[in-house]
Amino acid sequence: MSFTAATPILTPSYSLSSLHSNRFKATILSPIPLRRSFSSSFTRCRRNCSLIATAATTTDVEIDMDVDRLKEGIAEFYDESSGLWENVWGEHMHHGFYDPDSSVSLSDHRAAQIRMIEETLRFAGVEAATAVVDVGCGIGGSSRYLARKFGAKCRGITLSPVQAKRAQAIAADAGLSDKVCFEVADALNQPFSDGEFDLVWSMESGEHMPDKSKFVSELVRVAAPGATIIIVTWCHRDLGPSEDSLQPWEHKLLQKICDGFYLPAWCSTADYVKLVESHGLQDVRTADWSRNVAPFWPAVIRSAFTWNGFSSLLRSGWKTIKGALVMPLMIEGFKKDLIKFAIITCRKPE
Ligand SMILES: C[S@@+](CC[C@H](N)C(=O)[O-])C[C@H]1O[C@@H](n2cnc3c(N)ncnc32)[C@H](O)[C@@H]1O
Repeated sequence: MSFTAATPILTPSYSLSSLHSNRFKATILSPIPLRRSFSSSFTRCRRNCSLIATAATTTDVEIDMDVDRLKEGIAEFYDESSGLWENVWGEHMHHGFYDPDSSVSLSDHRAAQIRMIEETLRFAGVEAATAVVDVGCGIGGSSRYLARKFGAKCRGITLSPVQAKRAQAIAADAGLSDKVCFEVADALNQPFSDGEFDLVWSMESGEHMPDKSKFVSELVRVAAPGATIIIVTWCHRDLGPSEDSLQPWEHKLLQKICDGFYLPAWCSTADYVKLVESHGLQDVRTADWSRNVAPFWPAVIRSAFTWNGFSSLLRSGWKTIKGALVMPLMIEGFKKDLIKFAIITCRKPE
């Protein structure tokens, strides 16, 4: 079975119970050692980091065909597009946070991305952290920020070998190698022991997770008693009391976005609240920050029309171009109140 150039066309079905699919046994040649066992020791992780980008293993694994293709697509998408993003936008691969209805110039956006991290910490009431897991870490911007701010040790995981390697290289240049460590691993099967982290951080990775229930249960598992768990993610709107699914036009719009950005089925903020409450988590708080992120996508689109943005986009490859083509649909989704930029925070009981 070959997974080269696999395209994950998953049909979103918009109910939590449908986010699990049939599994079967297969042998795959995987460029990503998704189910390797990782040492929980930080030192061992640093040694492993140099191996990340080159590992190729033949493994007997139980896989979900669609889920495996999705992961492959996500890894390739970020392998291909992260250099372009860093070149134009820097080390943070998430939205900026703005005052609602503010007009901002291009140069304000990087500051707005830092503000997103600060507003997130403020909303969650986090004033200190010693051990952080950065789930879906991109090229490690959040981890390095949190390591500097709190002196915390941070472990970042991503599906993209290119991102993991780049995240580690930037950390080394910044003199942070003893504080942060990045590796290729699956958020749904994290290479960490139970209760390792006092801050569990997922900044704009939840939307990629094909099994939201497993995603949340892994976040809860690796959280120490008393730890704060933070999920900042794209959701669809909450359903009304008389609705059991979204409207057909809404399904269609989200499907197109899924195809462009390698996303599985979306869920609502209310669905996340049910999930975290089902684990007995405390102090569950949510907010809709859709208005606070409104200037972001128009700015990303404008940046694609600069000479640097456009030429880099053309060089980066088809997956990146496909992603760029659905960006206007994100704006449409936000404007039509279908897409919500949500934060969900909670605390694991002591
Ligand atoms: C939009 S980027 C966000 C990056 C980073 N959190 C930031 O704010 O800069 C999404 C990230 O989620 C990661 N991701 C998606 N699915 C994942 C999974 N199943 N396991 C681990 N990482 C995943 C991608 O590899 C990518 O690094």
